[in-house]
Amino acid sequence: MNFQIRTFDEYQEAYRYSVEDPEGFWAEIAQNFQWRKPWKKTLQWNFEEPNVQWFVGGKLNITENCLDRHLAERADQPAIIWEPNDPNEAGVTLTYRMLHDQVCRMANVLKRNGVVKGDRVCIYMPMVPELAIAVLACARIGAIHSVVFGGFSAQSIADRINDAQCKLVITSDGAYRGNKEIPMKETVDDALVQCPSVQRVVVLTRTRTPVSMIKGRDVWMEQELKQVTADCPAEEMDAEDMLFILYTSGSTGKPKGVVHTCGGYMVYTAYTFQNVFQYNPGQVHFCTADIGWITGHSYIVYGPLACGATSVLFEGVPTWPDNGRFWDIVDKHQVNILYTAPTAIRSLMGFGLEKVESHDLSSLQVLGSVGEPINEEAWHWYDDHIGKNRCPIVDTWWQTETAGTLISPLAGITKTKPTYATLPLPGVQPVLVDENGQEIVGNGVSGNLCMKFPWPGIIRTTYGDHERCRQAYFSTYKGLYFTGDGCLRDEDGYYRITGRVDDVLNVSGHRIGTAEVENAINMHTGVVESAVVGYPHDIKGQGIYAYVIAENQAAHNDNELMKRDILATVSRVIGPIAKPDKIQFVTGLPKTRSGKIMRRILRKIAEGETGNLGDTSTLLDPGVVEEIKNGALIGV
Ligand code: WT7
Repeated sequence: MNFQIRTFDEYQEAYRYSVEDPEGFWAEIAQNFQWRKPWKKTLQWNFEEPNVQWFVGGKLNITENCLDRHLAERADQPAIIWEPNDPNEAGVTLTYRMLHDQVCRMANVLKRNGVVKGDRVCIYMPMVPELAIAVLACARIGAIHSVVFGGFSAQSIADRINDAQCKLVITSDGAYRGNKEIPMKETVDDALVQCPSVQRVVVLTRTRTPVSMIKGRDVWMEQELKQVTADCPAEEMDAEDMLFILYTSGSTGKPKGVVHTCGGYMVYTAYTFQNVFQYNPGQVHFCTADIGWITGHSYIVYGPLACGATSVLFEGVPTWPDNGRFWDIVDKHQVNILYTAPTAIRSLMGFGLEKVESHDLSSLQVLGSVGEPINEEAWHWYDDHIGKNRCPIVDTWWQTETAGTLISPLAGITKTKPTYATLPLPGVQPVLVDENGQEIVGNGVSGNLCMKFPWPGIIRTTYGDHERCRQAYFSTYKGLYFTGDGCLRDEDGYYRITGRVDDVLNVSGHRIGTAEVENAINMHTGVVESAVVGYPHDIKGQGIYAYVIAENQAAHNDNELMKRDILATVSRVIGPIAKPDKIQFVTGLPKTRSGKIMRRILRKIAEGETGNLGDTSTLLDPGVVEEIKNGALIGV
């Protein structure tokens, strides 16, 4: 079994093998990596507990696979090309040799500051090379990284640090994003007021904004790096030792820490990177995601580096200094593979073709889409104007919990179909089920998307709370991993993901729980209760619509002011990405007699479909629906 699939026949053969003999299949794929000790059993699993272990007893270090083993053949090949926020600032290209050297140095800085194998390290940084270096440095010494996206608030950082009991934080003074300068260290300082587990903060200089540096706790990264050598042997890790924690939103409660482990994560991200994008040596891969999300972990850092690829790391935003920034980067670095989100495509579509046409995009060979369903119009614009109808589009469906892509075309191999993620990758066994968990067989059907067999990248646990993992993913349908997505399988057996069927929103490709936003809104003074739903948004995919009951309605004659304060509260509690797009004040919410909010009705109203609200007879007070309908914020 070759690591890289080259034809559709080979895909079908690999798929058949992976289903008939998953252990044999993945054992062959895993031979392509460097293991310190071979595994004793390829897979052990049950979905009841759940307990999934891949490559049991195998020993490795993922950074030896991402760095050391490439030194013989490609030491001088670029591993990371860093493109700064400001196109006039000089970028940085790190070859594999340089990256290896810097990761070892950073790892020694961590060790010097008391980090040992198994410790948790929080990373809150802008998209600079040191972010990727910090991630790999943790992996080098067996520390578990927990990267927190730079857009999250101090409160969100504190929650994540406390949940994982992080010992050290890596951050920077500030960050550049478009024309804005954003504080980072100050936000970390605010978080740390509530984080007794943190003993050290390592601070990178990026913006040179004044920051407070607390004696005995805070150290400058540059000074620390001067104290260490580049000699840092990799820690030997068990295949099932934790590699990282990444927090993601669910339908209830606070975000949960999704745990991935060393062996399976490495094998799965590398295999999917190579095959989905059909990566060939020397190609330049540009994934526009932030390393603060799973897409960045898997397809900027680990997947590409494990395959010896060249990966572009971009600090800025698509629309600054102008809306041609992506095309400028493609042109400048001769990018061959561009991997971005539908929300970015839709936003750039709105600016017309001037900036697209003034850049040379002829280096492009493969286009990828990720994070949310791509609508037909965006798909065609991407195909026509960016790919010039000669680059296959891979619409990759996956989740934080899956580590890597599960359903996607293989570039140039699988026949694509606009808006379809097409077919499962080898090792992936999707099933559609109805509400009762009955499998819906055959084609031309739709249902809830589940997986009936583990793949090496499947979530192992939610940090510190295994029961929550079972509850969230393995309890809805017995014996299955439930994705939370709705899906249709057409007559050709092609899969099309239709979106979340739970209370999780996808706003500009960012995953946000309605409960989280409600909790934040409810913290605002004068708010009695709130209900949050998603509604279709032209650019963001989904917008956030909040229905809010305020205390003493009459006193709030200045509703606009209160709305702004609510937005400020949400920003402060979660981060600006969770700010509602619309806030409607109401005097009541549609509830059943048992007190459950009927979100179905609120969703319909937010979508503007007030004519067809379905059965409202079980409502405690049907009158409230009329009032909400009349005050609905449609088209504003
Ligand atoms: C949710 C996972 C995949 C990494 C980035 C997001 C939605 C993701 C697609 C796609 C339709 C998609 C799903 C999924 N989603 N990719 N190609 N087509 N929907 O990871 O934050 O864990 O979100 O994003 O709803 O469940 P995430």
